[in-house]
Amino acid sequence: MTIPVLLDCDPGHDDVFAIWLAAGHPEIDLRAITTVGGNGTLAHTTHNARVVCSLAGITGVPIAAGADHPLVRALNPAAHIHGANALGGPRLPEPTLDTDPRPALELIRDTLDAATEPVVVIATGPLTNIALFLRSFPDRTGKIREIVWMGGSTGRGNATPYAEFNSWADPEAAAAVVAAGLPFTMVGLNVTHQVLATAEVLERIAAIGNRTSAFGVELLRFFNSTYEVAEGMPAAPLHDPVTVALTAVPGLVQTVHTRLDVELTGTETAGATSVDLHGTLRRPPNAHVATNVDVAAFWRLLEDAIRTLN
Ligand code: BDR
Ligand code: CA
Repeated sequence: MTIPVLLDCDPGHDDVFAIWLAAGHPEIDLRAITTVGGNGTLAHTTHNARVVCSLAGITGVPIAAGADHPLVRALNPAAHIHGANALGGPRLPEPTLDTDPRPALELIRDTLDAATEPVVVIATGPLTNIALFLRSFPDRTGKIREIVWMGGSTGRGNATPYAEFNSWADPEAAAAVVAAGLPFTMVGLNVTHQVLATAEVLERIAAIGNRTSAFGVELLRFFNSTYEVAEGMPAAPLHDPVTVALTAVPGLVQTVHTRLDVELTGTETAGATSVDLHGTLRRPPNAHVATNVDVAAFWRLLEDAIRTLN
């Protein structure tokens, strides 16, 4: 039996690979894509989702636009990492797929209502849409099996010394979603920095030889170049698809059940994720937090998924 998934994202180079993995993995039934402002403006992230689904031949998956700014803060796109249009590198072909007329929150509601079994909500951007959904439709959460989020870190951040970008972009949303008490899994930088788009990875993806793989290699070349400049890392971490791998293959990503709190204030700590791995706060565990990933299995999964696309 396949796993019904709704993917909320802000494409974004690594979000694209999350979309492709979700669409191309045989165990995942990708039911809907919703977009949020994050890596770029909502207009860009929504356009990019349409582009990468169109070119990969992902049809029958509605794409709806969500929040164009965080709950209480201003939008602060990551142009230095993803480029001015959030998908720097390749020339973007005109998308053949349209945006769904429903706003994202309605598409999330309808997707949950239509599902016969609970749906896994995977979020690979700021948690704005998910927080707004939980606030607007509190009676519809019973159909959410789990929320799996790329964000946060058990260690240091990347947007600020202590805060990871998705968490830093909308800390109030992250805190609200964690506090909602639904099953919640955080896949943070401590794990996503293990999956690096090295030269060997690029070679293997290029060797797949389809349109999606060629476009993917161009994306990764750009992503590697900005990571080199911004972070001094010659190979970029492919953060977002780790959430999909965790959902698709039990055990591929290891997690611990622990206490997670999101900082909202402090001089430099808004968005920092406090992961109480040693139980020093003596608070009840409220999240599953990723601690390790099988790197070779992850890349095999992603390459196999890309092979099934156009
Ligand atoms: C996260 O921030 C974005 O730049 C990426 O798409 C990923 O979701 C990594 O910190
Ligand atoms: Ca993202």
